[in-house]
Amino acid sequence: MTKITAYGVRPIEKPYFDKLNKYNFEMTYVEDLLTHDNVEAAKGTDAVLVRGNCVVDRQNLEKFAAWGIKRVFTRSVGYNHMDLQSAAELGIQMARVPGYSPYAVAELAFTLGMTLFRHVNLGISQTRQGNFTISPAMFSKEIHTATVGIVGIGRIGYTEAKLYKALGAKIVAYDPYPSDAAKDLAEMGTLEDVLQQSDIVSIHVPYFPGKNEDLVDASFIGKMKPGAVLINTARGELANVDAILNGLDTDQISGYGADVVDDEVNIIGKSFDTEAAIPDAGVRRLVAANPKVLITPHVGSYTEPALEDMISISYDNFNEALTTGTTKNEIKAK
Ligand code: COI
Repeated sequence: MTKITAYGVRPIEKPYFDKLNKYNFEMTYVEDLLTHDNVEAAKGTDAVLVRGNCVVDRQNLEKFAAWGIKRVFTRSVGYNHMDLQSAAELGIQMARVPGYSPYAVAELAFTLGMTLFRHVNLGISQTRQGNFTISPAMFSKEIHTATVGIVGIGRIGYTEAKLYKALGAKIVAYDPYPSDAAKDLAEMGTLEDVLQQSDIVSIHVPYFPGKNEDLVDASFIGKMKPGAVLINTARGELANVDAILNGLDTDQISGYGADVVDDEVNIIGKSFDTEAAIPDAGVRRLVAANPKVLITPHVGSYTEPALEDMISISYDNFNEALTTGTTKNEIKAK
């Protein structure tokens, strides 16, 4: 029986791993994300399953290779944490889950967008302090008269666009390879067109290390419609913190909502006693900019349907690789 060590399995997730284990893999669950300190847990097993923010670098891969582990798969869509080059050199196969319930991230992006668009968090933060005054900053448009811009209209972006469309918003989108369904739903344009027209801009672009960090920079923010809201549920590295905070300070944008931050390996899943103890200066500054900035701890995919998809597709990936030598979801260094 194939033995798999799964990292980053929270207690409430274990019953799902057990229920969906139709291939009867012998599972070892490790609650923490994979780090340099808990890599030994995989010794003696045949394969490893990780999630985003696990440390899948050369150091850990060398250990896996030395212990005869030939497969290290991720149950996330994003694979920027996987060192594909080292894996290829060490003869380790890698695969991912190319998609799970797109509603998981889309609904969160939509919720962050509407919360900022209607200044809900500003109101809540005031009433918590006993302040029931109504400030000009709470004056709002209505979503059916607004335009929502989707940057990257793949499955998640398309699903978010459908949610806004159902409320009557106009949808504009930028994507070099839009599907026919996306073209039917959204008016496609250049990135510039989308930024100039949109009251809410939501980013759904994969992060390619060394290629598209700081996609959201001062020039991106400068092209946005004044007072618009920016949402990032993709990856923290895609957005430059200085550019965002400067955009907020100058009222070029009115809000930033993000489920993702820089340096997640050192932040997500950890609890810091004070804001000052957050180990990344950019993240500290974003958190301090509440109520204009909303940060959630990378929970977009933390829904029951998404979890079930991540687990089932990962099990299928292992089964396919074990029985055929490869899987349609294999990821390789370019
Ligand atoms: C992904 O699937 O790429 C995610 O962002 C979620 C993952 C970190 C659990």
